[in-house]
Amino acid sequence: MPSISLIGISLIALALVYKNIIVPAFLSPLSKIPNAHFTSPVLPTWIWWKRRNATAKEILYSLHHKYGPVVRLGPNELSVNSAGGLRTIYMGGFQKDDWYRDAFINYQTPNMVSMLEHKPHSTQKRMLSHVYSKSYLQTCPDLQVVAKKLLSERLFPHIESLSQSGTPLNVFPYLQGFGMDFTSAYLFGSANGTDFLTDDKYCDHWLSLYTKFKTQLPAERKFGEIEQWCLALCDGAATCIEGLEKSGTEGSTAPIVYGQLSDCLKKEGLSGAELRLRLASEMLDHLIAGHETSGITMTYLMYELSKQPLLQARLREELRTLSPPISHPPTSESLASPKSIDALPLLDAALRETLRLYAAAPAPQPRITPFSSKPVDIEGYGNIPGGVKVASSAYVLHRNENVYPAPEQWIPERWMSSDPNEITQMRRWFWPFGSGGRMCLGSNFAMQNMKLAIAAIYSNFTTEIVDDEGIEQDDSFIAAPASQKLMLRFKRA
Ligand code: HEM
Repeated sequence: MPSISLIGISLIALALVYKNIIVPAFLSPLSKIPNAHFTSPVLPTWIWWKRRNATAKEILYSLHHKYGPVVRLGPNELSVNSAGGLRTIYMGGFQKDDWYRDAFINYQTPNMVSMLEHKPHSTQKRMLSHVYSKSYLQTCPDLQVVAKKLLSERLFPHIESLSQSGTPLNVFPYLQGFGMDFTSAYLFGSANGTDFLTDDKYCDHWLSLYTKFKTQLPAERKFGEIEQWCLALCDGAATCIEGLEKSGTEGSTAPIVYGQLSDCLKKEGLSGAELRLRLASEMLDHLIAGHETSGITMTYLMYELSKQPLLQARLREELRTLSPPISHPPTSESLASPKSIDALPLLDAALRETLRLYAAAPAPQPRITPFSSKPVDIEGYGNIPGGVKVASSAYVLHRNENVYPAPEQWIPERWMSSDPNEITQMRRWFWPFGSGGRMCLGSNFAMQNMKLAIAAIYSNFTTEIVDDEGIEQDDSFIAAPASQKLMLRFKRA
């Protein structure tokens, strides 16, 4: 008897070794892919530990440098770093990893970022794509009114007074405030948006709430202060829409994004509390995306420009070709058109280079390979089974030295190369906003508002660094400068 049970135990042990070690390490199609660590085919702990110690971004970079475009991080997880890989994974519509649903849901109600399945996501995205398209944004009269008000009533008076007194400004919270005011006015109408640029105490309070919000799980933060604040903004927009229907615009701009989504969801049959939370869940994501990523990007751009007075002068020369120029005090009733600002080559190159070197969302964007009859092939590694986590990251893609020579250096001129092949190649690897069906909805909006703010500032002022101790990138999903500090002094140009 004892020998029979010993044989049984040995057989079970052998079967477990076969299933959990021999197959993943030697027989699975993934076994042909270079391993990040010798334990990677059988254990996910090595990469888990690296992530826990917040060094994963640099680790991924060095792994791809050493092993090429595909690296196996764990038994069921790959990191992919190539333009072809981006096409396969992100244009191929691979579903998002569960992590998005767990981390990004608001009010226990789905929004685009947290929706995993294709159908509900694409339905909601279609509802909003038009109001975030470049052509709509560039010709939207309400957005032009918002831009003019923000510059003339908030940004210019504040920076003018700082330049006169010589007082430095921590631009990181200020630029996030600009992103928030611009985004909230577009979402909810100028009368219902925020005024973070003027109310710096509330802006600081909100940003400190947000620092905590980011560390909480959706269940913990379900109806906290930020959620209540966003609900109040949404309710303001709803009241405004009722008023607009009765009495017309009366000086304030329309709640464009809120109004558009509200109309579409009502057509789908939503109403009452369900409608209110669906709208608030989506709007909260846009407010979060709208203030943080663009605030980070503009902070790094101003950091780089502040180190280079000659480049600032070149940029100013370019900006002053705008007709009318964005001057303070204004020389014209109208503001330069978004299209003309967008067409400025040096401004575009400087912003692109900032999005490359300091991608605000630098972390891997995980997807899951589909369980389909057609085997998945990534960069020549074929027959990849369904259910494998695959991800690319802007941080690593943007540091390919064959595409971006001297990748750690901020060189806007690389985007002004006269060689069209170089530009095409750089654009194929440029991934600050993701790609495919889940690409950033707000990329055009972000580009337009960041270009406007930078154009307005450098048309009229110079900046110099007073203190840049807090400027290193950190390793989180969103790369905020570590201690959130960049002190700049403004002077009249
Ligand atoms: C510099 C500014 C911005 C950067 C770098 C950025 C980056 C990104 C990235 C990388 C993704 C894709 C995430 C993934 O694939 O999992 C994304 C998605 C998204 N972003 Fe942005 N974003 C920016 C600004 C904005 C703004 C201003 C808005 C809205 C006002 C916005 C709204 C969204 C939404 C709704 C999604 C989800 C899209 C979907 O799932 O289909 N973003 N963003």
